[in-house]
Amino acid sequence: MTRAAVITIDGPSASGKGTVAARVAEALGFSLLDSGALYRVLGIAARKQQLNLGNHQQLAQLAADLKIEFGNAGPGSVWLNGEDVSLEIRTDAASKLASEVGAIPAAREALLQRQLEFRQPPGLVADGRDMGTIVFPNAELKIFLTASPEERAQRRYKQLIAKGIGAILPDLLRELKSRDERDSQRAVSPLRPAADATILDTTRLTIDEVVTRVLVLAAASMGDGTP
Ligand code: DC
Repeated sequence: MTRAAVITIDGPSASGKGTVAARVAEALGFSLLDSGALYRVLGIAARKQQLNLGNHQQLAQLAADLKIEFGNAGPGSVWLNGEDVSLEIRTDAASKLASEVGAIPAAREALLQRQLEFRQPPGLVADGRDMGTIVFPNAELKIFLTASPEERAQRRYKQLIAKGIGAILPDLLRELKSRDERDSQRAVSPLRPAADATILDTTRLTIDEVVTRVLVLAAASMGDGTP
């Protein structure tokens, strides 16, 4: 195979994509694209500069100029213009900003080329909302992870409590549903499975079970050298 293989993992927030994508990438020795982190960084960069999100041209310019470093201070670390923003991009405020900038076509366009550059041999696992539909439509394997909103809110709740961050389950569920709504109803690159994606409902599966299933599918789609 001459070009780098791509596995796309799309799905709604808290569907487990991030964890699954990182584990699959590690198991295969592939690089990882957390595309949501790009939208999150753009959202907080816009806020830091007090940029009006209605000014799409300035937002696209900002997206093109951002100096983002992934993993330079350990796995999962994200730096923006020399500043560690790893924790800041995971806050609820950053999630909301990311979803808002993600609905702006000029911002998506400006981030597209950056995402394509992550495709390096031997391969890439790309996690997001439109990896299989728009960014890597010719990926070797496309996965779409789902889980019920209640299960996803519960997962997020447990994560936050484990980190010592206070959380209210009904509030989390409401925010998650409104982000789902914005991500799937937007005009550009809405959250939806690619026609050739394998849909995995993870409501009753553990992370280990999901990772195993994805690795089995990856072996079937790439292991024997057939495209
Ligand atoms: O995957 P995540 O929760 O980190 O994504 C945060 C937000 O970024 C999500 O609500 C919508 C936006 N996003 C997007 O529009 N397209 C992507 N490929 C990834 C994320």
